[in-house]
Amino acid sequence: MKYLLITVFKVSVLGTVAFLIIQHWLENKSYLFDGHKIAAIAGKYVDLPHNDAFQQVAVELREKYPGHVLPKEDEQWIFVNAGGWMGSMCLLHASLTEYILFFGTAVDTVGHSGRYWANISDTILTGTFRQWKEGTTESEVYYPGATLLHSWGEATSVQWSAGTWMVEYGRGFIPSTVPFALSDTLFGTQDLLTMFYTFKIYGKALLLEGQFFLDSLLN
Ligand SMILES: *[C@@H]1O[C@H](CO)[C@@H](O)[C@H](O)[C@H]1NC(C)=O
Repeated sequence: MKYLLITVFKVSVLGTVAFLIIQHWLENKSYLFDGHKIAAIAGKYVDLPHNDAFQQVAVELREKYPGHVLPKEDEQWIFVNAGGWMGSMCLLHASLTEYILFFGTAVDTVGHSGRYWANISDTILTGTFRQWKEGTTESEVYYPGATLLHSWGEATSVQWSAGTWMVEYGRGFIPSTVPFALSDTLFGTQDLLTMFYTFKIYGKALLLEGQFFLDSLLN
């Protein structure tokens, strides 16, 4: 019993120290992307059919951030089951502190947003996004062209109508968002292939950033 308490104490102290160090790093590091710029790029293609809009956004991002966006052959729509809802994502960029992806759903779906150690912004291209904020008794609907900010620590209920597609930018401690993103896959659908695809694409994106980092050291 005594040893258990000592272990719990050590883990809590280490966890708190790690949290403070990471938090300090997040607040002081420089970032590659900027939420306003991503929203502005997405905003230009709001009136297009969603697949055309996605292609335009991807082309523009590859042009503006060469070497930081996964190549076209790595584009893959991967199911996301979390918080009771079901969507699909196509990852374009991911590091330890940022990500950009396309997200949406082809069916009506609703659930819990998740509470993240990251700020997440979504620019809607098509469809409708209903958001019900914690502590309130009303929900609000957002339409194409709108950008919603989900701040870290926040929780909402989210509802997307069939055919809602968006461009998402996340900034924070990204590895901490993975367990929620895979929660219903692990405990509900048990779709191990989706889990494998998710880790594989995140791994690929991290390698791309690692390569960029090494190149910048050598040159
Ligand atoms: C997240 O948003 C909050 C509130 O706008 C801000 O204080 C914080 O610095 C942001 N975090 C990051 C990592 O950008």
